[in-house]
Amino acid sequence: MNKLLDLAKKRKSIRNYKEDDNIELEKILYALRVALEAPSGRNCQPWQFLIIRDKETKKIIRSICEAAEKEFHMKINNEFKEWLKKRGITWRKTFLTEAPYLILVYSNKECPYSIQSTWIAIGYLILALEEQGLASLTYTPSKTIEINKALNIPKKYRLETIIPIGYPAKEKEKEPRMKPSEKIFIDEWGKPLKQ
Ligand SMILES: Cc1cc2nc3c(=O)[nH]c(=O)nc-3n(C[C@H](O)[C@H](O)[C@H](O)COP(=O)(O)O)c2cc1C
Repeated sequence: MNKLLDLAKKRKSIRNYKEDDNIELEKILYALRVALEAPSGRNCQPWQFLIIRDKETKKIIRSICEAAEKEFHMKINNEFKEWLKKRGITWRKTFLTEAPYLILVYSNKECPYSIQSTWIAIGYLILALEEQGLASLTYTPSKTIEINKALNIPKKYRLETIIPIGYPAKEKEKEPRMKPSEKIFIDEWGKPLKQ
């Protein structure tokens, strides 16, 4: 049985959540403990996780993000607009208030390879959430400074992502993946692994 492969295949980004679901904080803490085991440059462990469950704080985060998203959506090209439209993605970020929990993931700018290391931890985190039966999304807000100001985040931390966590409000298809032969070469660039 390929447990990790099965989990990775099952995991998908969820943008609509059931509200007020009784999710045990323990499940989220378990996933965070997994993330804390990630490797990092010089073992600096540059990540910092801020769990938000307070409804008012979620509202503040959503309103800052949506203001920035409105601007962002006006600037994007038609190809990207089409991609977003197909997936029902607009400037509205309802998941920021619907999801019972948000995790804001920060990297410490003073650490070496802080962004790379933090994203490895994020990868661990979203798979561990999947293992706990919890859905998530790696939302990357475009204006993070205002969020950090509102939440009194020290200047040395960079907001990498906001992860809503909860149960999906509706089912959705997994986005397709390219074939392993397109992505994995062996011995020579462009030479696919034949199995
Ligand atoms: C670095 C990164 C940034 C992302 N930013 C956003 C985002 O801002 N908003 C969003 O809706 N999805 C975001 N996503 C989710 C991707 O759109 C999603 O992972 C991709 O379409 C594949 O779908 P899947 O996760 O369901 O397999 C991001 C994913 C990654 C890894």
